Amino acid sequence: MTTETATLHIEGDSYEFPVITGTENEKAVDLRKLRSTTGMITLDPGFANSGACRSSITFIDGEKGILKYRGYTIEDIAQKATFLETAYLLIYGTLPTRDQLDDLKYQIKCHTMLHEDIKRFYSGFPKKAHPMAVCSAVVGALSAFYPEFTDPDDTEADGGIIRLLAKLPTIAACSYKHSIGQPIMYPMNNLEYTQNFMQMMFATPCEDYEIDESVSRALEILLILHADHEQNCSTSTVRLVGSSQANLFASMSAGISALWGPLHGGANQKVIEMLERIEDGDGSAENFVERAKAGDDTARLMGFGHRVYKNYDPRAQIIKKECRDLLDKIGGQSKLLEIAMKLEEIALNDDYFAQRKLYPNVDFYSGIIYKAIGIPVNMFTVLFAIGRLPGWIAQWREMRQDNDFRIGRPRQIYVGPVNQEFKPVDER
Ligand code: ACO
Repeated sequence: MTTETATLHIEGDSYEFPVITGTENEKAVDLRKLRSTTGMITLDPGFANSGACRSSITFIDGEKGILKYRGYTIEDIAQKATFLETAYLLIYGTLPTRDQLDDLKYQIKCHTMLHEDIKRFYSGFPKKAHPMAVCSAVVGALSAFYPEFTDPDDTEADGGIIRLLAKLPTIAACSYKHSIGQPIMYPMNNLEYTQNFMQMMFATPCEDYEIDESVSRALEILLILHADHEQNCSTSTVRLVGSSQANLFASMSAGISALWGPLHGGANQKVIEMLERIEDGDGSAENFVERAKAGDDTARLMGFGHRVYKNYDPRAQIIKKECRDLLDKIGGQSKLLEIAMKLEEIALNDDYFAQRKLYPNVDFYSGIIYKAIGIPVNMFTVLFAIGRLPGWIAQWREMRQDNDFRIGRPRQIYVGPVNQEFKPVDER
């Protein structure tokens, strides 16, 4: 409860609006009565100043570079938790007890396989199809296979949640296997979540596949770091689609599509393409930064800048260290890491980036790890989607259980023609 108010003066009248404060002292002017009392709306393209909900899932302090899941720092979670513990925390609000975690793992293992008819979809997709297109389509199609979990009144949606968490790695790995013409590998339920994904990606029926623990832990950390990031583009998409009471699968499919864009999750693919261009001699790192500063869209510094972080993205700090550690252990693309670090150094010492507070974001170093592990470039954003899934689910569930729940429906300021006279086609 707060007694603080904000006063708005419009055309000679004054209006008072409550100021609300979050648990981390973020403040907002509550404008829910703005239109009914003043007749006006707010205009905020890109929603840079608009809060769409109250949420108790993730907190970001973009000025200080802080990220917390349910009050736990990302550094703590990345170091100490597994991906499924993180998923449970995000979705259900507390860290699981041993029994709760065992139960979650058991349930997921019961649902890792795809319906054999879903498997047949893959032969209908072109081999060159981007795996994000395939994943979005197959996740959307889960509504057709599990109509029992599409009831709009089911705000818990636990059956659908388990199936999604269990099947997305299988869906993703199948899209990769199909694209390279190898047989689809079935999940192995004696493996942990991330290891199972690696097995489905890299094993073949012809020989044993050995999982490197340091690689699977690095991948696990990447998934944890991507698991939620409050009201970003894909999460807001999930909430908006879900606000029509569209089912969980349909909402997640929309989230995957939103994530794919190069300004969002698709940036991790673009970063590695950028680093490889520099490696291949398409200008030096210095030259590339100069072109990015000149506003050359073909040289935008991908993996740099963030709507919320005006400081170093804490996830990028962790990934950079993981990247160094992993490359030391397994060798691999250290040249790309060198180029990335050089780009970062140049940019951070440049007035253009300093004035605009542009720092490396989560996508800047993640691709180097994926590449070292052997993940193909067009699967990078799919990995992001697997990581982000618990966050999307948590946000969807929180929205559906929120007392303030209403269909999402922004307004607009109309700037088109007024009162035109209709002329029949031959008189135009
Ligand atoms: N390289 C060069 N200049 C940049 C960059 C960049 N990566 N990012 C922002 N700028 C410049 C803009 O040109 C603008 O300059 P101006 O004020 O002279 O016009 C200023 O910095 C502010 O940038 P905006 O685009 O207004 O910032 P916005 O918050 O709308 O966009 C975004 C954020 C989309 C992340 C942007 O920084 C960007 O395009 N970055 C590269 C793509 C990327 O890495 N995306 C992943 C983000 S993290 C995620 O989604 C998981």
